[in-house]
Amino acid sequence: MQLIFATNNAHKVSEVRAILDGTGVSVVTLAEAGLDVDPPETGDTFEDNALQKARFVHALTQGWVVADDSGIEVDALGGRPGVHSKRFSPEATTDANNRLLLAELEGTEGRTARFRCVLALVGPGHEATVSGSCEGRIAHAPRGADGFGYDPLFLPDETPGRTMAELSSAEKNAISHRGRCFGRLPELLP
Ligand code: IMP
Repeated sequence: MQLIFATNNAHKVSEVRAILDGTGVSVVTLAEAGLDVDPPETGDTFEDNALQKARFVHALTQGWVVADDSGIEVDALGGRPGVHSKRFSPEATTDANNRLLLAELEGTEGRTARFRCVLALVGPGHEATVSGSCEGRIAHAPRGADGFGYDPLFLPDETPGRTMAELSSAEKNAISHRGRCFGRLPELLP
């Protein structure tokens, strides 16, 4: 079964393709589906945003659509940046976001955090969501060249001493918030 993945984030697409490899479920990108759109995400929760993106693309296509909304919650910041992770800094670039996160945590020893992801599946007469998380801590400096976003600053509890950007993609997908959601996608389908 093939679904449209309602994202323009190439990193998410390659992660999700690796997670779904061998399951019989595959995704096509918005561009591959001939859609030049940027699905809206104006909600206050990961679930609202994931559903909003999937419903938006379903309304255009009537097809089976999957979307995710994700981000990082830092306990010392009261859960920020959370749903605003993509646009945490005014520049909204990966480097600026990571620099701002380190600056806001300067001098803070309690650095627990988690990545969260909510997947929304929308098809004809069908809606479902599933969530996944990955617990860890924010490092004092970025490390590693793989992954994207906040990966160089995130130390998963399950991989002591290594940031998410120091894991292979298979290692990341086995423990990540996104791996935990999309690993369950096949069982959500009719
Ligand atoms: P959105 O789900 O498109 O709203 O984007 C969420 C933002 O959270 C991304 O732009 C990244 O900054 C961050 N994020 C989500 N998942 C990950 C991940 O797996 N690694 C690193 N950063 C992530």
